[in-house]
Amino acid sequence: MASIKTFFVKSNVIGKIFFADNLHILRELPSESVDLIYIDPPFNTGKVQQRTRIKTLRCADGDRVGFQGNRYESVVVGTKRFSDLFDDYLAFLEPRLVEAHRVLASHGSFYFHVDYREVHYCKLLLDSIFGRECFLNEIIWAYDYGGRAKNRWPPKHDNILLYVKNPSEYVFNIEAIERIPYMAPNLVGPEKAARGKTPTDTWWHTIVPTNSGEKTGYPTQKPLGILRRIVQASSRPDALVLDFFAGSGTTGAAALELGRRFILIDNNLEALEVMAKRFDGVDGIEWVGFDPAPYQKRTKECKLLS
Ligand SMILES: C[S@@+](CC[C@H](N)C(=O)[O-])C[C@H]1O[C@@H](n2cnc3c(N)ncnc32)[C@H](O)[C@@H]1O
Repeated sequence: MASIKTFFVKSNVIGKIFFADNLHILRELPSESVDLIYIDPPFNTGKVQQRTRIKTLRCADGDRVGFQGNRYESVVVGTKRFSDLFDDYLAFLEPRLVEAHRVLASHGSFYFHVDYREVHYCKLLLDSIFGRECFLNEIIWAYDYGGRAKNRWPPKHDNILLYVKNPSEYVFNIEAIERIPYMAPNLVGPEKAARGKTPTDTWWHTIVPTNSGEKTGYPTQKPLGILRRIVQASSRPDALVLDFFAGSGTTGAAALELGRRFILIDNNLEALEVMAKRFDGVDGIEWVGFDPAPYQKRTKECKLLS
């Protein structure tokens, strides 16, 4: 993969989708070759640990005999499950974030989608990789769906941290962002009310509705509206967009709709199957390590004809 950028420009490929561990592919990508990155990593990396700490106390009737015949007792002083979980998560993320920073172009932006319980840990890690001066926004995606806790404020938001590679060079297309209605249109006059306003760092947006055409069935699918806004604001029409925790391929769908090229990576076969269906009928997608044909109707019809 000498130059992925040259490859995209020279060929008719508009999207490349990898079935692989993202770290391997990231390490293959040339430095500063990607214009925009969005990721929504899973919290559960499958390595939940519970480490029990034990302290040994000297005690006349202890069950263990040690030096000079002294008796000892082992006492459990606590489990470190919580902090271990975060250590594992951050250790998993760090090399991938370092690569993300490397492959991002000097005018590029990086969006990191995370849960309110982990955002503080991730902010510290990202500050250390990008530099605090490159932190641009914390976007709150607020939704209103599902049950409501009765014993605290029901948590109904996700956090999206936005970093740029270079604070004096990044892309932000304020005019391209879809405007939203004023909350109190009567207060701003008919002209302004008709034009709408630009969104702030708090985005009200529904989750993907269960009965909508957008629903792919992938459990962690994010709304196309959120990704559309990100791609519109932070990339130019000729941009290359990367999502290396692609899931159902929402970032690719938004990039495709807005005329950007994209790279998607996921290591879960189910995600690839969902993406095969989502991008069925789209020309110019190259699949690496996975054959989408069995999941695509268009291919089946072609096979019937031949
Ligand atoms: C929260 S989901 C992303 C959902 C996505 N934003 C969407 O709209 O569908 C996270 C994805 O990361 C993938 N993943 C986890 N570890 C990975 C790894 N090491 N390499 C590539 N993909 C990985 C999972 O398989 C999962 O599909």
